[in-house]
Amino acid sequence: MKSNELIHEFEKIYGYSNVNIRVFFSPGRVNLIGEHTDYNGGYVFPCALDFGTQLVIRKNNLNVFRFATTNFEDKGEIVVSSRLTKHGNHWYNYPLAVIDQFNKKGHIFEGMDFLFSGEIPNGAGLSSSASVETVTAYALNEMYAMNYDRWDLVKLSQKAENEFVGVNCGIMDQFAVMMGKENHALFLNCATLDYDTVPLKMDGHKLIISNTNKKRGLADSKYNERRSECETAVDMLSVKKPIENLSVLNYAEYMDMKELISDQLVFRRAKHVITENNRVLEAIVALKNNELGRFGDLMNQSHDSLKNDYEVTGKELDVLVEEARKLDGVLGSRMTGAGFGGCTVSLVREDVVDEFKIIVGKAYFDRTGLIPEFYVAAVGEGTREV
Ligand code: GLA
Repeated sequence: MKSNELIHEFEKIYGYSNVNIRVFFSPGRVNLIGEHTDYNGGYVFPCALDFGTQLVIRKNNLNVFRFATTNFEDKGEIVVSSRLTKHGNHWYNYPLAVIDQFNKKGHIFEGMDFLFSGEIPNGAGLSSSASVETVTAYALNEMYAMNYDRWDLVKLSQKAENEFVGVNCGIMDQFAVMMGKENHALFLNCATLDYDTVPLKMDGHKLIISNTNKKRGLADSKYNERRSECETAVDMLSVKKPIENLSVLNYAEYMDMKELISDQLVFRRAKHVITENNRVLEAIVALKNNELGRFGDLMNQSHDSLKNDYEVTGKELDVLVEEARKLDGVLGSRMTGAGFGGCTVSLVREDVVDEFKIIVGKAYFDRTGLIPEFYVAAVGEGTREV
């Protein structure tokens, strides 16, 4: 929805007043490679999309936060307090979580009206939650001139999700949507938080995001489970000499220590993380050298590792990837995000994009009974005021 239409919608819901209305935007993201590495101190390589979440916001002179969205009927009215609590499974837990983090830093707000409008499909692994969190954090920081920088807001938004929503996510999503740069991917070292922007020179190719339209079900609990399996691996590997996280090891070092891991499942989880870090480094070299074929191979290897060693794919993602890879002109295809449903990302020669949608779409439907959706990704800028 255009921002003037949204402002109109806002006034229909909350009424007209002469208090200043402001509009902010935060994108979604797609991760190109480097999956389930962020909370292991590893490397990620995401980029921001050109669609995301808009937020229209105004102070209301009432002692309540009022929440509405153009996406669901569900509305919330929460009395302003420095002790906010989670409200069931309502969507407005995400902005509340951010307000709660600011409260914990000693900021108390006045009542405000919020209208969100999201273009990111929920549960598709394109960071709709990080988009809502960061747009809220950015807007409040501007409205109350709190002078936090982008990194502060990234960390605050991640903490909001960890502590209030209860998903133990890493930092990639909040980082990618806040720092996004048009036509660039972002290479982040999650241990040091150093990052670099890398031009996405696609040389006649497009990134196609394919949504399995499989709802993610138990994704959050499985996500937390993977995280704790990695912590178990760190504990086992630390018996002789403590290591801070899995990403301090390269594959050869890990192989030398493998007898320390007594559990095969834990062994495979850590193997994924360690090999995935290396794939990110290689993928960036490939991209810089215009070796897109190599980049695609690494995407394929990433998916296979997430499927066999990390076990976060599932039938729908695997079928979509398999069918995509059958098509001539597809250089690589992998799941993106947390997994267990959600989306894949494929690197596809421009002239087969239309064919991709038809052929892969049909084959996927025939095998799963689900109708997928396709978006040709345009890589956009990070969080901002509109
Ligand atoms: C989710 C999390 C991220 C990251 C990915 C997997 O998107 O929010 O922090 O762990 O899964 O790479």
